[in-house]
Amino acid sequence: MLKKIKDTALYITKKTGEKPFAGIILGTGLGGLVNEISIRHSLDYRDIPGFPVSTVQGHAGKLIFGSLSGKNIIAMQGRFHYYEGWSMEEVVFPVRVMKMLGIDLLILSNASGGVNPDYEVGDIMILNDHINLFPSHPLMGRNIDELGPRFPDMSIAYDRELVAKAFDIARLHNIRVQKGVYAGVSGPSFETPSEYHYLRVIGADAVGMSTVPEVIAARHMNLRCFAMSVITDLGVDKKIVKITHEEVLDVAKTIEPKMTLIIKELLEKI
Ligand code: HPA
Repeated sequence: MLKKIKDTALYITKKTGEKPFAGIILGTGLGGLVNEISIRHSLDYRDIPGFPVSTVQGHAGKLIFGSLSGKNIIAMQGRFHYYEGWSMEEVVFPVRVMKMLGIDLLILSNASGGVNPDYEVGDIMILNDHINLFPSHPLMGRNIDELGPRFPDMSIAYDRELVAKAFDIARLHNIRVQKGVYAGVSGPSFETPSEYHYLRVIGADAVGMSTVPEVIAARHMNLRCFAMSVITDLGVDKKIVKITHEEVLDVAKTIEPKMTLIIKELLEKI
């Protein structure tokens, strides 16, 4: 596995000559940040040896290199979800490759269902912690000692300084923003009312089907992590309505400019 990660990174370095500072995983319907990047290189996943190829609607499947807010970045347009059938190793493979390419920082976005009764559809939640409810774990099996320790610490999964800075940026621009705990589940079905209730009881503020595996793999390698979620529906008693993936994408689309602004300013300030 380590050789595969290194081979892919070497291929990308030879092809682009880039040394990114930050990696950005653009989640459901939040691909608009791409329009803000001064793009120097763009590689289709299907052309990168070792890369899985994404299938879900709304995910283009490209690795983009360029500048954003004066920083060298690498952006993943389209991520690999566990519910698509990828193994955990495949889900986190690009994160490990990005680390090999030299990133110090990983920024992620996603869509989620709010289970905190104070949340509203269209809120942005900055993750300050997560609960891993995936049925598998990205670090299971033989540890890759070159990447990180067998038993990595998770006491501060989300970088406190970045959380505080992003919160300040949002408030400065009058953007309604929450800080909360993201529960990561496999999906692909949305939750039953009882499952939403359970997630609230165990301490979650929102629930989604991504991010947690990537953050675990990133923290294993001691990358700083920052993640934001757009609340696209509510798993709150009396507010639960039928949802579709299209509705999730629609809400995410309307919130895109706000998320984009926060990430741009955050990159400027670090
Ligand atoms: N549950 C799980 N994942 C989600 C949801 C949800 O309600 N909304 C968007 N992604």
